[in-house]
Amino acid sequence: MKKLIGPKKIKTSIFISGTGSNLKNLINFSKKKNSPINIVLVVSDNKNAKGLNFSKKKKIDTKIYQYTSRISSENKILKDLNKKKAKLICLAGFMKILSKNFIRKFNGKILNIHPSLLPKYKGLNTHKRAIENNEIFSGCTVHLVNSKLDSGKIILQKKIRISKRDNYKTLGKKVLKQEHLLYPRAIKKIISNY
Ligand code: GRF
Repeated sequence: MKKLIGPKKIKTSIFISGTGSNLKNLINFSKKKNSPINIVLVVSDNKNAKGLNFSKKKKIDTKIYQYTSRISSENKILKDLNKKKAKLICLAGFMKILSKNFIRKFNGKILNIHPSLLPKYKGLNTHKRAIENNEIFSGCTVHLVNSKLDSGKIILQKKIRISKRDNYKTLGKKVLKQEHLLYPRAIKKIISNY
């Protein structure tokens, strides 16, 4: 019987530095029948990143880059992405800033997830700052990466209410749960425009 072949999946690389709950979530998403992505390479700048356990367990090619120099690490990463024919990069808690040159090479094809309602609270410690400022709402944003930190075009956002009882840890947990729903949706949205 003739095998039915679905639409081609976009070869995707996920970049991490730490816990990797978004990585785990995106791996599960990529394994779904209707997922538009196939994860071909996991990149980490940290050999101790907990997230590396997930990709290894799922036998996804995973590489650690020393980052003693950004230029040489990025060149190695670019070479590996080329070999793997990666067409989309999803940053998921990747703590290194990508150079303008790197971003240009993947222009419009690098996504990041950020734990705030951008343009509010760019950078680190978003939950702590939102609580200290008595914000009523927080949330998360998936955006394209450009050369300015957390400033690229917004693809999707999810807003949540901060309760009076929230501290930065409980808020962080709530937002992370929403991140896991938002990132796959944003990927689908961006790929539908390819
Ligand atoms: C997430 O909160 C993400 O928004 C931010 O870094 C964190 C990564 O978490 N960019 P994890 O490693 O995916 O659990």
